[in-house]
Amino acid sequence: SIVFLNGEYLPQEQAKISPMDRGFLFGDGIYEVVPTYQGEAVGFIPHIERMQSGLASIGIQLDYTVEDWQKIIQTLIAKNESGNRGIYLHVSRGTDTKRAHAYPTGIEPTVFAFSFEIPPAPAPDKEGVKTFNVTSSEDLRWKRCNIKSTSLLGNVMHYQQSQDLGMQETILFNQQQELTEASSCNVFVVKNNVIATPALDNQLLPGVTRKLLLAILREHSSFKVEERVITMEEVRDADELWLTSSSKEVAPIITLDGTPVGNGSVGDVWLQAQALFSQYKY
Ligand code: PDD
Repeated sequence: SIVFLNGEYLPQEQAKISPMDRGFLFGDGIYEVVPTYQGEAVGFIPHIERMQSGLASIGIQLDYTVEDWQKIIQTLIAKNESGNRGIYLHVSRGTDTKRAHAYPTGIEPTVFAFSFEIPPAPAPDKEGVKTFNVTSSEDLRWKRCNIKSTSLLGNVMHYQQSQDLGMQETILFNQQQELTEASSCNVFVVKNNVIATPALDNQLLPGVTRKLLLAILREHSSFKVEERVITMEEVRDADELWLTSSSKEVAPIITLDGTPVGNGSVGDVWLQAQALFSQYKY
């Protein structure tokens, strides 16, 4: 496949960076994953805005405009297989000559992007949708989870917990037993037709799918929608639980730690939410 590296498009196997890159040595970088379906991006502007605010929050100066990113995404789509493509964007602080913790001055950020195949967006169809069995854990990541950092070891380890149990995600609770998010998704809880998700703070990523879904539900449905603290008890007592992410859109969880969620089948509120998401996501 053809990838983008520091202004050039080249075959993946020819894309090379130095082992002295701070992305490699420190995980010192910011990334994004933008879903595209038949060439059309979902949430392009909020994805770029989140990346720019992440870069600003860790002091990486990069002069790429929204148009520059758009061009990169369009070029990667044009130069690779068509269909449903995730676009991975990655900016590290750059390559230094030594390994030193302090932010170096006078180096250029490393900018890398590639595209990869993603599954089709889930149809609002109770029988056809991919369902998720999840486990849970105390959230053992750092306290800056609102930054979409390339340092993902905490997330990777939590995700692996689910794989080792034959499940597909791990949902996370802080020390107060309040829901934060999942290792690679945000989480929504439905009880008595009220839809709730944790309020944004430093304990979770401000997901673009979360943001779009909240806006769509508020504008196009009569469901009550809440952003607030959600306790472990509420999660275990939910009628429905959903995961949201760029590659999954809205995805139903049917078991939590081996116990059925609600009646153990895909919920009616999910069906309406994913139908609205499919309709209004662009
Ligand atoms: N994961 N929370 C975490 C920890 C995530 O890594 C992600 C995304 C989300 C959902 O965010 P969004 O709706 O903007 O995709 C929430 C990406 C896709 C990944 O790392 O592959």
